[in-house]
Amino acid sequence: MENENTSTNKLIGFVDTHAHLTDKAFDEDRVVIIEKSRQLGIEKIITSGFNIYSSIEALKLAKKNEGIYASVGVYPENILELDDKAKTELEKLAQNEKVVAIGEIGLQYIGNMPSKEKQIEGFIYQLNLANTLHLPVVIHCREAIGDMLEILKANRHLLNFGGTMHCFSGSLEMSKELLKLGLYISVGGVSTFKNATSLQKTLREIPIERILLETDCPYLTPHPYRGKKNSPCYIPTIAENLAKIKGEDLEKVIKQTTQNAKELFKL
Ligand code: NI
Repeated sequence: MENENTSTNKLIGFVDTHAHLTDKAFDEDRVVIIEKSRQLGIEKIITSGFNIYSSIEALKLAKKNEGIYASVGVYPENILELDDKAKTELEKLAQNEKVVAIGEIGLQYIGNMPSKEKQIEGFIYQLNLANTLHLPVVIHCREAIGDMLEILKANRHLLNFGGTMHCFSGSLEMSKELLKLGLYISVGGVSTFKNATSLQKTLREIPIERILLETDCPYLTPHPYRGKKNSPCYIPTIAENLAKIKGEDLEKVIKQTTQNAKELFKL
């Protein structure tokens, strides 16, 4: 890969807390990418589902590979598929020892989506499931932060095992609300974009003890590799950028974010 790393990085393992390794974009090179990411020091990867099928595939991949874990869940766009049969299936999947979270789940009020009511119902159902199974949640939220905060506050009792706001790009005020709820903030490629100055400013204020690294690959490739397919191999680029934004030692950023991921997901 182009982003060769220092020997320091190789000594400390990174965790990519949110990837979609089962995406068809990796059909040609999945094994190669997993191997390359290991060489670059990415010790653990959580590959995420977003509907029942992708959750089954994520668990299959996790079972086959040491250091790969699965997150299972149904996200807003697919929420109508979460009928009784799908709920039973999801519950069964989530009990596998390689499943470390329920996600991605959440709300999205932009694009052609199922109704807010259906989204909210499915989201709360999955918050309940996570709590029952003692798992953290990985939350997806687009253009729905008002309802999201309201629901999370009203359902605080379902957040006993924590969670993270995946692909965070909100304001400082929102980040404070999320931190108060005990959630982590996941930082990915968007934080490296040239036009992300307000997000970068917010990240300066969020304690490193509450930040996780993620790629959300194959989407959202970090700068300066935009246009290429994203993969866990770019986690060091995101970490280096975060260290720069926060004016922190790179080694500390890597160590702390890895420790955070291990604590939340019990890796
Ligand atoms: Ni995702």
